[in-house]
Amino acid sequence: MATIQILPPGPKGLPFLGSLRQLQQDRIGFLTQNQRAYGDIVHYKLGPRHVYQLNNHEHVQYVLVKHADQFQKTPTLKNASKDSIGQGLLTSDGDLHKRQRRLVQPAFHHNRIATYADTMVNYTSDMLNDWENGKQIGMLNEMMHLTMRIVGKTLFDTDVTEAADSIGAAISVGIEAMSDRISHPLQLKEKFPTAIRRKRRAALNTIDETIVGFIEERQASGEDKGDLLSMLLMAVDEQDGGTMTTKQVKDEAMTLFAAGHETTANALAWTFYLLGQHPEIEQKLAAEIKTMIGTRRPTLADLPKMPFLEMVVKESMRLYPPAWTVSREAQSDFELGGYTIPKGSIVMMSMYVLHHDERYWEQPEAFLPERFAAANEENIPKYAYFPFGGGSRVCIGNQFAMMEAELVFATILQRYHLSLLSGQNIKLNPLVTLRPEPDIQMRIERREGVVEAEKAAVAV
Ligand code: HEM
Repeated sequence: MATIQILPPGPKGLPFLGSLRQLQQDRIGFLTQNQRAYGDIVHYKLGPRHVYQLNNHEHVQYVLVKHADQFQKTPTLKNASKDSIGQGLLTSDGDLHKRQRRLVQPAFHHNRIATYADTMVNYTSDMLNDWENGKQIGMLNEMMHLTMRIVGKTLFDTDVTEAADSIGAAISVGIEAMSDRISHPLQLKEKFPTAIRRKRRAALNTIDETIVGFIEERQASGEDKGDLLSMLLMAVDEQDGGTMTTKQVKDEAMTLFAAGHETTANALAWTFYLLGQHPEIEQKLAAEIKTMIGTRRPTLADLPKMPFLEMVVKESMRLYPPAWTVSREAQSDFELGGYTIPKGSIVMMSMYVLHHDERYWEQPEAFLPERFAAANEENIPKYAYFPFGGGSRVCIGNQFAMMEAELVFATILQRYHLSLLSGQNIKLNPLVTLRPEPDIQMRIERREGVVEAEKAAVAV
């Protein structure tokens, strides 16, 4: 006798399309509404695909940590990345992923990333030297530019914003292409190249040529420039004694560039937005920075002395997680919460949804950095907060990103007070990362007595 599969509750959607239109119209609203209306496990269809939205922290842990081997990255992500960032850590699976992770991990060892702290502070100071007192700036734009320069320098030892070097712009076009493919998973392949596709193809060719050029130059010189690229080229697998091919190094470098700047830029922009709405918290943070650093240059050694700074960044990533969702494809049937979820289904977990769930957070919409004070943080259920994912595929750049965010904040807040321009209506724009839309406009005001910090800014 055939068994009838019992589906978890969820929106019914339309024939053929399923809930695709609802999702595309308001992604965050759709997912949040699903959790509220249907609970821990929600089923819906996106075109022909069955999707299971998991809203419980234990279910997140099941997929990302405890049974991670039974899940792979989704076909949508893999297809979208094929002709943009290639097959790097973010998109590979199984044994290939394990080997690549072993090879790339040493480049993110604490001692190695510590050497990038100077670059982070120098590039921030360089940006501040161009800021004019009393002027208005678009925060996301400014932070994107800054984090792109930082990742470009730490990755390739190159200033990607120099006019002669179009790699930064080209990589942005590549990421845009990937973002577009992910946002429109059912779009039909166009037979005829449109102007935008031609532009993207040209940009991707530029990236290929430039990065392969960097790699070949290094391979020929054998020089360790102290950047991530040198680490990738020098990496030898402890298990098979092999190294990466040029294509693998190129794909990993592209992946790090793509994954490593937009996320952090969003985290920074949203934090400034929150500080603009909560001047008392900005004052407390500025006071912590003043007490601990005064007017000298911030260093990596200063960060452990500024716990409030870390709490602010964490709470901002709770309210506005830059990576707002993770998905996997089930490789075999599995049981969860009383349901059988079949092989080939997509399981989807949204940081945004769990980070705003009142079962886990009192006053979930309030900006309360104290939630992350050491004594309180330990009471947060595991995986109710997961801005960097978890398990064997946890963000490889999480320490890099936290260090960068904190150093950038300390350097900016030491010298400037920022306030929000009135009358703005900032909305969530959930693309691959969660962006503010339109850009957050802020007025910058120099603090008194920061001459020393300005002088200490080292030329980049
Ligand atoms: C605030 C900043 C950042 C956030 C919120 C963030 C978030 C994430 C998340 C959620 C994942 C897991 C994705 C999944 O499981 O499907 C991830 C993976 C990854 N991230 Fe980040 N990330 C940030 C910064 C960075 C930086 C600075 C780098 C590199 C310089 C980086 C490189 C990567 C890579 C390579 C992966 C794939 C790891 C793997 O699958 O083995 N990220 N990130």
